[in-house]
Amino acid sequence: MTNNTNVLPEAAEHAAALALKHITNPTNPWRGRSLLDMVSVSAEEIAIGLETAAALKIVHDARCNAVKFSYPSTLGLLFEKPSLRTRTSFEAGMAQLGGASIYLAPGDVGMGKRESVEDVAGALSRWVDLIAARVFAHSTVVELDYHATVPVINALSDREHPLQMFADLLTMQQQLGTLKGTKLAYVGDGNNVLQSLLIACARTGVHISAACPDGYLPDPFFLTEAQRIASEEKTGAVVTIVTDPQEAVQNANAIYTDVWTSMGQEEESAIRRVVFAPYCITPELLQAAAPGAFAMHCLPAHLGEEITASAMQLHRTVILDQAENRLHTQKAIAALILGL
Ligand code: CP
Ligand code: NVA
Repeated sequence: MTNNTNVLPEAAEHAAALALKHITNPTNPWRGRSLLDMVSVSAEEIAIGLETAAALKIVHDARCNAVKFSYPSTLGLLFEKPSLRTRTSFEAGMAQLGGASIYLAPGDVGMGKRESVEDVAGALSRWVDLIAARVFAHSTVVELDYHATVPVINALSDREHPLQMFADLLTMQQQLGTLKGTKLAYVGDGNNVLQSLLIACARTGVHISAACPDGYLPDPFFLTEAQRIASEEKTGAVVTIVTDPQEAVQNANAIYTDVWTSMGQEEESAIRRVVFAPYCITPELLQAAAPGAFAMHCLPAHLGEEITASAMQLHRTVILDQAENRLHTQKAIAALILGL
């Protein structure tokens, strides 16, 4: 084991052993499963995912080579939309695990046009061990999973962005020391990221209050489901949706935002810029939250829209931690699903 950083070799060995304990456990609940949404991810799966990812971060920081596939497992990245973080973190992560990845760019495959989703799923399953798909319609990733014979991961759909949640939860845990009982405010569009956040927070005991303009609220299913989870699983999370950003950020430890116009909604961007103008993270809005509150953003960011340049600059380190944690969490998820 070589250690190019200031992580102690014993710490790296301990972390590698912890990651290996979960990854090589054939009865771990991740093994062989698909990840289409947060709704289907249990509290135990989140806990194992975060613990494995935190351990893999230490292993990575020590440049330790102890967590590797015994055979170069291959991930197919089937993308209908652009990506920086999801694609690069998956490709780097698979390489670091001794596996491989194949990127299929928007336009390469023509899923549902050049050939059916069923045939794409069937053929890809004969070559790769795992598929991650970024799609416009959530139904496409569900259909892919139905026809694939290997696990399928939703790498963002119009409905959910589950991979982002693991990076966000890990970042909050690292910043706050714990998840349960902390409070996240979300300011902006009731989109795929918020819909996944409502469920992720409810399941981990994070209070979440989202401020969205009328007409741009999340699908009511996610509020109802998040409140049901918090109540039935007794996680203690309080989940609310309001329209006033000032109300949402009261006592919040972090304020999260995302673009006003998601991929696929570009023709609405002019009207959205008007409607969402009051839904912007500013240093002043952060001042109205709990002392020490920080900003979060899944990126890409549009400065001067959902977050000001000054708020972004002040909280850039945490926001880049979120981006970095895509690497560690996706390595954990791929390894937990596939085993080594
Ligand atoms: N946050 C996120 O998913 O980034 P990309 O769109 O660059 O993958
Ligand atoms: N809501 C955004 C997230 C980008 C990572 C989108 O879907 O474009």
